[in-house]
Amino acid sequence: MAAEAQQLTVPTEAELLQGQADLWRHSLYYMTSMAFQCAVKLGVPTTIHSLGGAASLPYRLTPVSWLLLDSVAVDGHPNQTPIVLAATSRHCIEAAMGLSDWFQKDVVASPFEDLHGVTLFDGSMAEQDPEIDAVFNDALASHDNSGFLTVLRECGGALFQGLESLTDCCGGDGTTARAVVEAFPQIKCTVLDLPKVIDNVPADGVVNYVAGDMFKSVPPAQAVLIKLVLHHWSDEDCVKILAQCKKAIPSREEGGKVIVIDIVVDSSSGPTHEAELLMDVAMMVMTNGRQRDETDWSEIFTKAGFSDYKLLKKLGARGVFDVYP
Ligand SMILES: C[S@@+](CC[C@H](N)C(=O)[O-])C[C@H]1O[C@@H](n2cnc3c(N)ncnc32)[C@H](O)[C@@H]1O
Repeated sequence: MAAEAQQLTVPTEAELLQGQADLWRHSLYYMTSMAFQCAVKLGVPTTIHSLGGAASLPYRLTPVSWLLLDSVAVDGHPNQTPIVLAATSRHCIEAAMGLSDWFQKDVVASPFEDLHGVTLFDGSMAEQDPEIDAVFNDALASHDNSGFLTVLRECGGALFQGLESLTDCCGGDGTTARAVVEAFPQIKCTVLDLPKVIDNVPADGVVNYVAGDMFKSVPPAQAVLIKLVLHHWSDEDCVKILAQCKKAIPSREEGGKVIVIDIVVDSSSGPTHEAELLMDVAMMVMTNGRQRDETDWSEIFTKAGFSDYKLLKKLGARGVFDVYP
């Protein structure tokens, strides 16, 4: 033991000082979230915007601030304030604080469900605490509805040109489906979601809304779109969901495909990669899902019975896949 210890190389003084700074950073990262939450709650981005983009304090509108402005949707990105409020809420932070206890238990429930006794987005939370349920639902909507105009611009032609029909699986209030129909009016669009969601969506004459359960069946169409859904689910559940999507489409020769839009973790370093990894931990804390790299996605597609796929584009952290039966 003593001989082994002698072989250890003790860090230099400079390395130890750097180590101390790193330790502070790792321990205090949550202060970034708290200071950020404070600025959002105080409406700092909107105030700077109303002052013409600059203020007497040394602040200016950064791209992040543009995403946080009241009543200004830049390039179709809805205001992202609800995500900040949900991610920095007591519910999330307390669930993350329980991570080490959770690792030592043998439970299927996520740390969030284990601690709070409710699951995100399934109605149980609405019964327990309607106020925080509304915060999380707003966060989900602002997250999921952002960036789709970019998808349409960058790969709308490859994805939707020539399609006759499309089912948006877990399509919520139809925001995405309506954007598809606006860009490609020939497509007959159906939205599948749970009854509690569909029952509250007014008929719009543009999209057909179907209440159901994707684990049981998905309304048939030439293509099924499943956007920012699968990262909420375990690998086993993803295989079940995709198998139902596959049943809903015709053969590849007849144009059948599933369009998967979801986070694809890449191997580069940098802020986007760091965000992907943080989102992975967030999924572990709050759901049974995770973020996946391309190899993980490929394995899931194969297990669900698909023969091939194409990663058409990576837009920020999101990947756009065509998956073929
Ligand atoms: C993460 S959101 C989907 C986001 C949406 N695709 C978008 O990009 O805007 C999750 C949605 O899945 C729906 N959902 C959850 N479980 C479902 C199920 N078993 N069958 C159908 N929809 C379900 C929820 O009601 C919610 O609207």
